[in-house]
Amino acid sequence: MLQRPRRNRKSPAIRNLVREVSLSAKDLIYPLFVHEGAKNVAIASMPSCTRWSIEGLVKEAGEAHALGVPAVVIFPAVPEEKKNSTGDESYNPDGLIPRALKALKAAHPTLCLITDVALDPYNSDGHDGIVQVRPDGELEILNDETVEVLCKQAVSHAVAGADIISPSDMMDGRVGALRAALDTAGFTDVSILSYTAKYASAYYGPFRGALDSSPKAGDKKTYQMDYANVREAIREVILDEDEGADMVMVKPAGAYLDIIVKLRENTTLPIAAYQVSGEYLMIKSAADAGWLDEKAVVLESLTAIKRAGADLILSYFAKQVAQWERDDC
Ligand code: PBG
Repeated sequence: MLQRPRRNRKSPAIRNLVREVSLSAKDLIYPLFVHEGAKNVAIASMPSCTRWSIEGLVKEAGEAHALGVPAVVIFPAVPEEKKNSTGDESYNPDGLIPRALKALKAAHPTLCLITDVALDPYNSDGHDGIVQVRPDGELEILNDETVEVLCKQAVSHAVAGADIISPSDMMDGRVGALRAALDTAGFTDVSILSYTAKYASAYYGPFRGALDSSPKAGDKKTYQMDYANVREAIREVILDEDEGADMVMVKPAGAYLDIIVKLRENTTLPIAAYQVSGEYLMIKSAADAGWLDEKAVVLESLTAIKRAGADLILSYFAKQVAQWERDDC
């Protein structure tokens, strides 16, 4: 036999030399939840995840950063009484996210701060956009009216110190509108990481539990994408690139590796992928039950996402991966 592929697998040294993809904490963005109040509260729908107070958030983000995680993305749990049908709290300059951003920036100047731009945490209807009920009772999500609110939200985040804003709402034209709004307000340096191919996915269930942000009626299928579609993702990436996105995202990640491959072939922009709450929960709950080896499965799942073509990955395991990396060297 001339060809014996096993020769390249015969020792850890050789396996490391020929390894095609490597995963590092440097590739990871750590999603964190913040709420009003002084207590850190465990999230029932996401074991080992926490709704942090601002103080707790600053501490947790600082620990992750010290371990080598370069960026966090923050999500607010907003009290029901601050929600309304137009999501006005989303652009309150003294709201939870602006206060959290200021505290994070002051404590950790080198940590990259990313915010999610969408109305669902602030909207009494629990949708990412403004809801109108049609005469026939069907819900309509108003695109252009929503984009106007998103622009105010993004600018309020930029004022408070966001380095990157990340629209997750899937309204049409929002990337271009956000770019124009940020530029007009003088924030030409604030980047846009667009949720470009965001699918209407059942894997978001635990996240909506974490924020109490589930839609009160209807579903998100008129704005998030049909999971049967690939070409639609390419169409979205072409539009987002034209509209000025700096980075694009595929979400969820694990069941959508083919979409990551396709976007990699169709854009020169960096690609992010979001290992979402349902993916986290499947691994975490099986590991907690003793049915899966947590470290092995987490590293395999994240490496597979990189192998498909993602440059950066949002993962609730980010801090843990950084800790393992530290322990292993
Ligand atoms: C809100 C938003 C969602 C997630 C990120 N931003 C939920 C949704 O669209 O319903 C999901 C993240 C996760 O499941 O981990 N626009």
